[in-house]
Amino acid sequence: MGIQISPSMLSADFGHLAAEAERVKNADWLHVDVMDNHFVPNLTLGVPVVERLAAVSQTPLDCHLMIEDPDRWAPAYVEAGASSVTFHVEAAAAPVRLARELRAKGARAGMALRPATPVEPYEDLLAELDMLLIMTVEPGFGGQKFLDLCLPKIRTARQLIEKHGGETWLQVDGGVSLETIERCAEAGADVFVAGSAVYSADDPDKMVAELRARAEEAAR
Ligand code: DX5
Ligand code: ZN
Repeated sequence: MGIQISPSMLSADFGHLAAEAERVKNADWLHVDVMDNHFVPNLTLGVPVVERLAAVSQTPLDCHLMIEDPDRWAPAYVEAGASSVTFHVEAAAAPVRLARELRAKGARAGMALRPATPVEPYEDLLAELDMLLIMTVEPGFGGQKFLDLCLPKIRTARQLIEKHGGETWLQVDGGVSLETIERCAEAGADVFVAGSAVYSADDPDKMVAELRARAEEAAR
């Protein structure tokens, strides 16, 4: 698939979500952060908003669920129209069953790891996942500083993915900008979430293109 960019709507204007989605036509995905004020200390949006955004957006939705009990709630985001749904392994009771359910409903299944969660215990789950998300900040808020301590985990994840056929996409989320994206790409990430870097730019669509160019250069 090559390098993909997924701007995070968390940094967009929630009063004009459809228009904000239109501002990033170069994007491969729109990253939608769902927070429940339990798994993370912040509250954002849920199924009804995802349903409307999916209906009006030309770009597929990449839903990142920072919620407790994803086993119960995640399938509804596929029904709402998300093309990719990512749950946190720390919150999932039965990640294999959940990933299979998401796929069976027709979405790509993603699994996310917080910065302190190691990747090695999940090697055998990679075949069940379309995407692995390595958080490069503690989830909950946009605009935080990139955690360099996550880079070795990105490298390890890339090695494990290659060992198992290389099909699983490797996403990074948190503090990704023109300054940090090269490090992530060199370490092996191929899907990049960027919120504040994209939506605080004068021209968000141009920033998407610049981020992509920089990651492609670094991945070479
Ligand atoms: C944080 C969210 C991110 C957030 C990233 O918990 O998962 O998707 O929007 O924002 P930036 O790119 O500003 O760090
Ligand atoms: Zn996110």
